[in-house]
Amino acid sequence: MLAISADGVSKRYKGLSQTALSNVSLTAESGQIYTLLGRNGAGKTTFVRICATQLLPTQGRIQVLGYDAIKEADKVRRLISIVPQEGRPLRALTPWDHVYNWLQIRGEKKQVAREKTELILQKLDLYDAKDRPAMNLSGGMKQKILVAMAMAVDAQLLFLDEPTIGLDPVSRRQVWSSIKEWKKEGKSILLTTHYMDEAETLSDNIVIIDNGRVIAKGTIKELRTTIPQNLRVDITKDNIDTEVFKSFGSIIESGDDTIRIFTFESAIKELTELAVKKNLSFTVSPITLDDVFVSLVGGIEEEKTAAASQKRY
Ligand SMILES: Nc1ncnc2c1ncn2[C@@H]1O[C@H](COP(=O)(O)OP(=O)(O)OP(=O)(O)O)[C@@H](O)[C@H]1O
Ligand SMILES: [Mg+2]
Repeated sequence: MLAISADGVSKRYKGLSQTALSNVSLTAESGQIYTLLGRNGAGKTTFVRICATQLLPTQGRIQVLGYDAIKEADKVRRLISIVPQEGRPLRALTPWDHVYNWLQIRGEKKQVAREKTELILQKLDLYDAKDRPAMNLSGGMKQKILVAMAMAVDAQLLFLDEPTIGLDPVSRRQVWSSIKEWKKEGKSILLTTHYMDEAETLSDNIVIIDNGRVIAKGTIKELRTTIPQNLRVDITKDNIDTEVFKSFGSIIESGDDTIRIFTFESAIKELTELAVKKNLSFTVSPITLDDVFVSLVGGIEEEKTAAASQKRY
């Protein structure tokens, strides 16, 4: 069964001339992690909220777990769970109150609710803070309360809209591990994130949205092929002449003192020898999702130009 099936979904917010989503069609298999990537304002949260029955599309059809998300919103709501992008816990309530009460609202018996609350608070390292009012907790701990609430319930599809924002590296990994466990149980996830390492670690499939349109989708491996070269070389540039490296591939000047060259394995030996001869430090690594994202969506103006020339290469 498909977790999500969107067909021609568009959204125009009242009073805005621009559409937030334009004719988005995509399907998400169940039991997998799909990640939406896109620049600020691309339309990710709008899409998530439409799928999660919080927002009506202006046009199009949307099915979630086999139900019509517009006409059968009640049925969909019972099967999903969400970490909203800008959710905030209630100031006076503790982590325990938030999760336990939420589980009871979702119909869990008291004993089960207690067990599940304890388990998720421990997994996310919130147990020691379980009785402290949210207003006395740090920003990251507040964010983890929202993640704990969403992940404690027994849902089939989890929407995570930038779930690890503001979390320290250890906490992020705790959330990642909970997400992976969730998937192991055969459940589905729609994630949005601006952290490319998070997307690389978790995603089975990526969907890139730009200006309300889907501009690329596929596995990370498939998306990597949108850049013809397979390696990148970062060279520390201190008044060096970038011209001498032009023949090796596409060059991206990031504005600081490094240049990035997308190139092929066959060119690596000659390129690095030249760098050594010129006494330049360099690193060689595979093309990452970050490179793919910047090349498809563009960044600062000079990167856009580089991305455009790289597509021609
Ligand atoms: N409630 C709203 N009313 C009017 N316009 C909105 C509303 N919510 C979002 N928009 C507009 O819709 C577009 C898409 O916004 P959305 O929040 O979906 O982007 P996003 O991809 O989630 O961005 P971010 O990465 O910053 O979270 C933007 O132009 C935004 O200004
Ligand atoms: Mg958003």
